[in-house]
Amino acid sequence: MNHRQIHITPKGNLQHTPLSESCIPVLQTGNRSVILAPMEDVSDSPFRQMCRNLGADVVYTEFISSEALIRDSEASRHKMAFEEAERPLGIQIFGGREEAMHGAAKVAEANRPDLVDINFGCPVYKIVKKNAGSACLRDLGMMERMAGTVVDATPLPVTVKTRLGWDDNTIRIREVALMLQSVGVRSLTVHARTRSQGYKGEARWEYFKYLKETPGLEIPVIANGDITTPEHARYLFEETGVDGVMLGRAAIGNPWIFRDIKHYMEYGELLPPPTIQERMEMCADQLRASVAHHGERFGVIMMKKHYGNYIKGIRNGKHLRMEIMEKDRMEDILELLLNFSENPEIQVAV
Ligand SMILES: Cc1cc2nc3c(=O)[nH]c(=O)nc-3n(C[C@H](O)[C@H](O)[C@H](O)COP(=O)(O)O)c2cc1C
Repeated sequence: MNHRQIHITPKGNLQHTPLSESCIPVLQTGNRSVILAPMEDVSDSPFRQMCRNLGADVVYTEFISSEALIRDSEASRHKMAFEEAERPLGIQIFGGREEAMHGAAKVAEANRPDLVDINFGCPVYKIVKKNAGSACLRDLGMMERMAGTVVDATPLPVTVKTRLGWDDNTIRIREVALMLQSVGVRSLTVHARTRSQGYKGEARWEYFKYLKETPGLEIPVIANGDITTPEHARYLFEETGVDGVMLGRAAIGNPWIFRDIKHYMEYGELLPPPTIQERMEMCADQLRASVAHHGERFGVIMMKKHYGNYIKGIRNGKHLRMEIMEKDRMEDILELLLNFSENPEIQVAV
């Protein structure tokens, strides 16, 4: 596969939509997009729809194994499934073999997403040991071949999500960004930690400004890592010049964060937080959608990651959460959630 010949000038390549004509916010420099991060067992179709409704400009599926995709596994097909209302949507793929990544990009394309995203950031050992995820940060040649292979496999825009480097001694994010741009990658999201950091310490936002000032870098840069408030988003847009912000953990149980950021960016004021009743109703809606999408057993399990934040800061919330966790039928959980919001005695936020 000779991606270098085809993609020396990616914008001129007729196979791909020119950047200027793309209406996908994440592909536009300066667009200040607000994006839902790919999260395994969290960013499923019901949650993505909620986040889009509340202002997320782009959403991604969780990472999907290229090996599973080319085997046509049922689980990977389920992970790829999405509703039209979620667009623009990216399918994220990962893997350590070029052939599998090439095939997986084609399988993803057949599902008609708006983008294909490559995961070059996952720090988990069992992924890295197969040369997937952040493993490429140790071998930029491999990253270049892998990204080029995916770009060559599909006419869809290809984006990348990665980390700053493998460890503090290998932070070559400018080089990475220029290399990815040269093979035709259309936008780069950086979780501002190294692989060695895992989730420890703080995300190093200072690298976003450094990256945005890279001579010759034209593709959008999306900031990720520890963005939890509208003020954080504004700081990143205004002080570092990034083209988008991507939120992961802060959106779990709080899909309103996208609306809050949008409002703050437009009017400079913070919206009041959702009421307890709104939180319970949204949580109940998500549970119903989760069960409709995954079936009752798995739909109830998938919601377990979300309750904590929906209930956070509510008096008696801990007790409610413990009760919910014990239930495995949707109706029982709905009853707890909706009765809770109807009982004035325990509706007091701390
Ligand atoms: C539960 C969970 C699952 C994740 N799964 C993925 C994934 O499938 N693909 C990916 O690129 N990153 C994944 N991540 C990383 C997030 O996308 C994001 O980079 C990271 O959480 C930092 O952003 P945050 O501080 O906004 O959460 C995951 C993170 C969490 C917490």
